Amino acid sequence: MCYPECGIECVRWIEDFLFRSTMPPEEVAAIFVEPIQGEGGYIVPPPEFHVELHKLAQKYGILYVADEVQSGMGRTGKMFAMQHFGVVPDIIALAKGIASGMPLGAMVARSDIMVWEAGSHASTFGGNPVSCSAALATIDLLEEELMENATVRGEALMAGLRELQKSMECIGDVRGKGLMVGIELVKNRETKERASDWRNETIQKAFQKGLLLLGCGENVIRFCPALTVTAEEIEVCLSILEETLREAAG
Ligand SMILES: Cc1ncc(COP(=O)(O)O)c(C=O)c1O
Repeated sequence: MCYPECGIECVRWIEDFLFRSTMPPEEVAAIFVEPIQGEGGYIVPPPEFHVELHKLAQKYGILYVADEVQSGMGRTGKMFAMQHFGVVPDIIALAKGIASGMPLGAMVARSDIMVWEAGSHASTFGGNPVSCSAALATIDLLEEELMENATVRGEALMAGLRELQKSMECIGDVRGKGLMVGIELVKNRETKERASDWRNETIQKAFQKGLLLLGCGENVIRFCPALTVTAEEIEVCLSILEETLREAAG
């Protein structure tokens, strides 16, 4: 099915099929969902997707947990990517960017969910003071300028990639929010045949030219630079990418 004709059938399928045949809703404690898929291929869902899925969760008293480990902490230009979709989750999982590389993860939730008895949960290295201090400094930087930088540089990156897409048939899709941007490589735009080999070759060749990229999904190249990235660095990235793609995908 294709959007928008699908009418977000995937959410209805959970209620009409999954809840009836496999998993009764009263046995479901929580729905865990990434606002924007990371490893799955940097997939941005349609605007109604989270709204509808959240409504379904609320209807059956199921907690809505946003896994913002990749998408959170300013990466998409907002503190949390779920803010782009107008949904307030019950719980948010955070890590990666939260302390700019220092080891830290956090679970953030409504206060009524967090009333646990003492000793219910423990973690040897939890609450490490050095990492927490790095996280506080990171939050200051995000609020002062880096979320804004993610929005502005992300728009420039997406615009550059869309321009490249006009002359390069192998770029099937350009998508993302802020500095969480991906391009999908295809052998054929009509059939959408995945070009995983071109993707892998591009990543290797770009690395040799000084551009560090990472794949996700089967045929997607992701761009997730530091939120401090400059306009010049975006230009260099686009130029190395173009050169490399022309070599890899001919
Ligand atoms: C979306 C997402 N959630 C959770 C995790 C796991 O995070 P951690 O390694 O901090 O437990 C990852 C790791 O890559 C991730 O990408």
